[in-house]
Amino acid sequence: MTKAKGLLIVFEGTDGTGKSTQLNLLAQVLEKKGIDVVSSFEPTNGVYGQKIRALYSNRKETSREDELELFLADRKEHVENLIAPALASGKVVLLDRYYLSTIAYQGAAGLDPADILARNTFAPEPDLALLFHAPIETGVTRITENRGDTLNDFEKEDYLRKVQIQFEEMDLPCIKRIDANRSIEKIHQDVLRLVFTLPGMK
Ligand code: TMP
Repeated sequence: MTKAKGLLIVFEGTDGTGKSTQLNLLAQVLEKKGIDVVSSFEPTNGVYGQKIRALYSNRKETSREDELELFLADRKEHVENLIAPALASGKVVLLDRYYLSTIAYQGAAGLDPADILARNTFAPEPDLALLFHAPIETGVTRITENRGDTLNDFEKEDYLRKVQIQFEEMDLPCIKRIDANRSIEKIHQDVLRLVFTLPGMK
C-alpha cells in the first residue's frame, strides 16, 4: 500500500464497549499486511494525562472548564509529538479515544458540545471514527467483573447514560456506528469491512 498521507482511525464509545480489544485486533491484521501502524490512546501517559488520571478518584476537585483544558492540553501534546508526525510519514494511526470523547464526556458534564468541537480544530480530523455502542449495564459489568476494577468518577452509571446520549446525538461525517453488543469476532469483521473500504486502503 502506498499513501502520500497517513490515515487516522479512532475508536470511540462509552467505557467497557470493547474498543481496546478491537483496536488491538485491527492493529494485528494491519501489521501482518506489512502496513506501518502506530497505536496510541487518550488520555496519554504524558504530564497532562497523568494529571487527568489523578482526577479519576476525585473529579470534584476540579472545575469542568479546568478539566476540559487538561484534556485539550494532553491532546495538543499528543498531536505534536505523535499523531501529526506519524500521519506526515504515511502511517496508519489507531487511537483509543480522541476528541469525540471530549465532546461526549465533557458535554455530558455540562459544557457546550459545539464549543468543545470548535476548540479541537488543532487536532487532525479522523478519516474514520468507529463509534461503539452497547448498553451501559453491559459496559459497567465488563469493567467491574471482567476487568476486576471499580468504577472511577468518569465511569459512574448515570453519567455514562448522559455520555451515551451525547454520542448518539453526534453527527460528524467520519462516524461509523458499531453495535458492540455482539461477539468479538462479529465486531472485528465489521471493523475490517469499514477500514478496508476507506480510500487509500486495500
Ligand atoms: P480509559 O483510559 O479507560 O479510556 O479512561 C479514560 C476516561 O477519561 C474515560 O472514562 C473517558 C474519559 N475521557 C474524557 O472524559 N474526555 C476525553 O477527552 C477523553 C479522551 C477521555
